[in-house]
Amino acid sequence: MGEPSRPAVILGYRYYVAEAREIGMNEAVAAVSEQRQWDRLMAMGALGAIPGNGVNRACLTDLDRRARRLLIGWAKEIGASVSVDAAANLWLRRDGSDPHASPVVTGSHMDTQPNGGRFDGIYGVIAGFEALTALHDAGVRPRRPIEVVAWTNEEGGRFAPGCMGSMAWSGFRRIEEFADVRDSDGLRFGDALAAHLSAESDLPHRLLGGEPHAYVEAHIEQGPRLENEGIDIGVVTGIQGSRWFTVTLIGDTAHAGTTPLSLRRDSVQDMIRAISALNTLMYDPHDVLRFTVGRVIVEPNTSNSVANRASFTIDFRHPDKTVLLARGDAVVGVVQAAVRDASVTVEETFHALPVSFAPSVIDAVERAAAAQAFRHMRLPSGAFHDAQFVVPVCPTGMIFLPCHKGISHNPAEYSSPTQLAAGTRVLTQVLAELAA
Ligand code: GLV
Ligand code: MN
Ligand code: MN
Repeated sequence: MGEPSRPAVILGYRYYVAEAREIGMNEAVAAVSEQRQWDRLMAMGALGAIPGNGVNRACLTDLDRRARRLLIGWAKEIGASVSVDAAANLWLRRDGSDPHASPVVTGSHMDTQPNGGRFDGIYGVIAGFEALTALHDAGVRPRRPIEVVAWTNEEGGRFAPGCMGSMAWSGFRRIEEFADVRDSDGLRFGDALAAHLSAESDLPHRLLGGEPHAYVEAHIEQGPRLENEGIDIGVVTGIQGSRWFTVTLIGDTAHAGTTPLSLRRDSVQDMIRAISALNTLMYDPHDVLRFTVGRVIVEPNTSNSVANRASFTIDFRHPDKTVLLARGDAVVGVVQAAVRDASVTVEETFHALPVSFAPSVIDAVERAAAAQAFRHMRLPSGAFHDAQFVVPVCPTGMIFLPCHKGISHNPAEYSSPTQLAAGTRVLTQVLAELAA
């Protein structure tokens, strides 16, 4: 096997070099193919392509199934075994030399935002699979099995909230709890899941849950820090907390030309009052807090009728648990106090506390980035990821790589083939080390 195109080790890592040779780590890293990975990402990006190089591939749609089948076809070429669990999480596995050893798991998600890009999520799945392919091509078989997982519905774009697959796998929520969540066409998540599992019934079934030795997820940063600071690899230290709410206001519809304002129960006007009060609640002079109203539905949604129904979503995030709990818990009271005429309900649909990653995985990522002479830095994640729900189950970490101007959840999302390959080389080294 040849050496990697970049120096595999730097001075000060002599002991590590010897160990790396023993487990074939350098050979596996050298076998990572930038071109093959890029071609696979582009093939995935064609499934649900939208103008401007974007992708719209919602979870549990026909496009999602086609993407999964494409991946399964590639997995079969390297003899990886394939299985699916009750949350439709898709698992690819390459056995290790010890049949009793617990696996090292990597992966991410294959669904996108409606106006998404070609890398958010799918990169982590393809990178994990590229690492598996590289280990296969280099003839390296670590002691532990390595599994690549494609978690179901990370985005929450079709069925909210996101991370349903990883929440169900980790036992944080039961998959049945999501059955009645509906998409914008009124289709139930439970029905979409059942239809998907029945279409995939030829695949071996595996139990939901597990006790991996470790989990590491590769992802584009989705923010501008790495690019701005000229860094190749982000060593992710943790993920900030998120809380999602849906606020629904019910008033009365009425004629816009004839009904005096004093007699109206206008749900849109109350929505404006509520959002304005929430902006005050969420004000943060340090600009650390994230507060987004991203989805608004108004009925009957005509220009000459007062709206009888308005609903909007709140996506609120903060790295400090105290702030996340205090301001999140204040949402209901602030909305109720602000609303004048409509009746209001506030439902919390997602609640993920901030997490810190395991020092053992953080150190392994940092060591691999240093050994491959990549410029690297530690940073927390502003986006949530499936890794957040794996934290209580096993030592967990993430690898970030830069993306152009930090743009994400946007068709313009872009990382270069070389940047993406750098992340995968680091991932391959980390997986080989953790699985040794
Ligand atoms: C994940 O897509 C997030 O919204 O952080
Ligand atoms: Mn993602
Ligand atoms: Mn996303």
